[in-house]
Amino acid sequence: MNKSYPHINGKLHLTGSSRFIADEIPLPEMLYTKFLFSPVAHANIMELDTSESITIPGVEKVVTASDIPGINQIGLVIQDEPLFPEKEIMYMGQPLAMVLATSEKIAEAAVKLIHLKYEELPPIFEIDEADEKGEWYIPEKKIECGDVQKALSEADFTLQGITETPTQEHFYLETQRCRAIPGEDRQIILYTATQSTMEVQEVVSRLLNLPANRIIVEVPRLGGAFGGKERGATIWAAMAALGCFLTHKPVQVLLEREEDMRSTGKRHPFQGRWKVGFDAKGKIEALDIELLSNGGAYADLSIAILERAMFHADNAYFIPNVRIRGRACRTNLPPNTAFRGFGAPQAIFILESILDEIAKKLELDPIKLRQINAYRSGDITPYEQKVIECNLPDILERLAFNSNYDQLKEEIEKYNDEHRNSKQGLSIIPVKFGISFTTTHLNQASALLWIYIDGTASLTTSAVEMGQEVSTKCATVVSKVLGIPLENIRVESSNSQRVGNASPTAASTGTDLNGNASRNAAEKIRVRLLPLAQSMLKNQGIDGNMEKICFKDGTVFSSDSPETKIEFKDLIRQAYLSRIPLGANGYYSTPGISFDWNIGRGSPFQYFVFGAALAQVQIDLLTGEHQVLKVFIVHETGISLNEAIDLGQIEGAFIQCYGWCTCEDLPRDTTGHYLAINPSTYKIPTIRDLPSKIQIEMIPSGSKYASIFGSKAIGEPPFIYGLTVWFAIQNAIHSVKPDAILKFPATRESILLALN
Ligand code: MTE
Ligand code: HPA
Ligand code: MOS
Repeated sequence: MNKSYPHINGKLHLTGSSRFIADEIPLPEMLYTKFLFSPVAHANIMELDTSESITIPGVEKVVTASDIPGINQIGLVIQDEPLFPEKEIMYMGQPLAMVLATSEKIAEAAVKLIHLKYEELPPIFEIDEADEKGEWYIPEKKIECGDVQKALSEADFTLQGITETPTQEHFYLETQRCRAIPGEDRQIILYTATQSTMEVQEVVSRLLNLPANRIIVEVPRLGGAFGGKERGATIWAAMAALGCFLTHKPVQVLLEREEDMRSTGKRHPFQGRWKVGFDAKGKIEALDIELLSNGGAYADLSIAILERAMFHADNAYFIPNVRIRGRACRTNLPPNTAFRGFGAPQAIFILESILDEIAKKLELDPIKLRQINAYRSGDITPYEQKVIECNLPDILERLAFNSNYDQLKEEIEKYNDEHRNSKQGLSIIPVKFGISFTTTHLNQASALLWIYIDGTASLTTSAVEMGQEVSTKCATVVSKVLGIPLENIRVESSNSQRVGNASPTAASTGTDLNGNASRNAAEKIRVRLLPLAQSMLKNQGIDGNMEKICFKDGTVFSSDSPETKIEFKDLIRQAYLSRIPLGANGYYSTPGISFDWNIGRGSPFQYFVFGAALAQVQIDLLTGEHQVLKVFIVHETGISLNEAIDLGQIEGAFIQCYGWCTCEDLPRDTTGHYLAINPSTYKIPTIRDLPSKIQIEMIPSGSKYASIFGSKAIGEPPFIYGLTVWFAIQNAIHSVKPDAILKFPATRESILLALN
């Protein structure tokens, strides 16, 4: 299974022939859109006058809240988000009105003629202020085990502090977009860049007061999403749908980069207020932590993100007495949303900061401290899920071996002794990442598989392809079950008519859920084909048992006489003539997961992914520049469905987090304007920022609980590894200034500030 054959979209991408939304030629009569975005973060609308803008030739319609035929509500988990605000503007960049015109230029000119009068209200931007004022979407959540107060009071040492993490822009290459086309019988066909076809359908149906079966959602593929299109795409799809509904013409919504960066939600900033108790050896006895998130103007996915943060507040460590309290705070920023890791990276950064403080206090080796506290099989998490098949101690040992840890440490010390203006540092982080949607009901998927008369296959699943190559992995599963060569399987666009009620492709579960659904569909067809295959083989003199029939490399044979084969395509033609159905619907739901928030107990995850990373960096004390010299990662993939794809995911996730914690600074002014709204001011890592050396070892440890064919989810867990760079930079700084405080992200400015 674990071969590294090229993924199925590779050739299309490289030749520029893969199709994305709005790549198609303009449609006849298509209308283009531009928005009036709020110029202030918090205000009451006094007047919104569109009468002048509508007079411009080429303007078809100017749409506001009053044009919505159904319910002006796009919230799902908590219904607190209007498509257009009717009275209260909640964030800078919030869309207030939409112009539909025959060209973008005309639409842009018309937006300037919409007259907005408003009365400013005091905005809230910071977690502290929102929390003080009780601006939470829902009351505090809690997970508690043991006796924290007692353990803290009895601990040899205690430390406390406040640790913060900032936001991050998704910077998917393809900005938010949607094309809506009117169909017959009140149908609206949405070509939308969403991770969640079901959510778009549900929200648009409510907004337009149309049955769900009139809303068709079609997603060819996404030009990257990283969580930013799990919920974030819905509002723009709803805009296009509304425009199309009102004009009966095709409508295109397509955000420019600056519009996208200004108006869309990002990674949640978090604050951790913590107190930790530990003994002289560094064993952590107690942790009392409050996790607060900055959720922005509307709830969006903030509750689920807070939950995942709370589930990862322990990262990879067994702590007997824990209290985790979580509050998601409402502020006047664009609604923050899902972003790779979904709250876990924030919580893990906070906990690793705590471990660094403990190591410093006790002058302990960082890897030893982590080894002492690491989970072992049989340990229980604070929410009472048993940690099984846990090889963290081995992984840490493996990492020490791969990196030649003791020698590396000595080399760094020697380097630091010998260099005045440049210092090196090192850090290690183990990871335990829970797999499954924490919202239990989302853990389901379907697949629709057709085998055509020539033996080729067409596969649709609930999954959305966004570069993670869930399509290659699902095709691999079908290929394995039916023995069809990969090139004979076409993975189709995601489409609500072919596969309905699709959960978002998120939580790293795309392949687990949809691979299993694909397997289910393929196995149904295989079972139907077996008796026919048996009788066809019998005609060739092979009187075999049905159990012994193999489907492999486009042929079917009995394992007893593998030299006598029938062609798969001949079997299929015969099956059609024999009236055996060659289409199947597959379904899968994750077994054995549940959680009860009333008691903060349960097993929300099907399994955990384990791994660890080490980074060595060098900083220039005069310029604040840094270089990542070496990165070592040991990551448990289970039995990978495709090692090349998994390697790409590990590298990509690492670099994405590396950007978050070193260069992706996104400051805001006092009025709530994001100051970096394009790539000239928002610095994401590029090819030149790659570590000089990166060595990744993938461990194929067999797992009873891993998902499809023994593989483990890959999309998000490796994101955490990038944090090692931040801690290694801090470690280098501490070699000259032990009490220096390094800001996150560790930009040159932050590094220089910490040193001064
Ligand atoms: N990889 C690419 N190339 N593009 C993406 O948008 N999204 C990430 C990850 N890897 C993403 C990606 C996120 S946030 C998730 S949850 C998973 O892919 C989703 O896909 P999967 O569940 O199929 O792994
Ligand atoms: N991850 C990603 N998206 C989600 C989750 C999750 O755990 N829960 C609900 N939406
Ligand atoms: Mo990923 S943040 O779960 O889309």
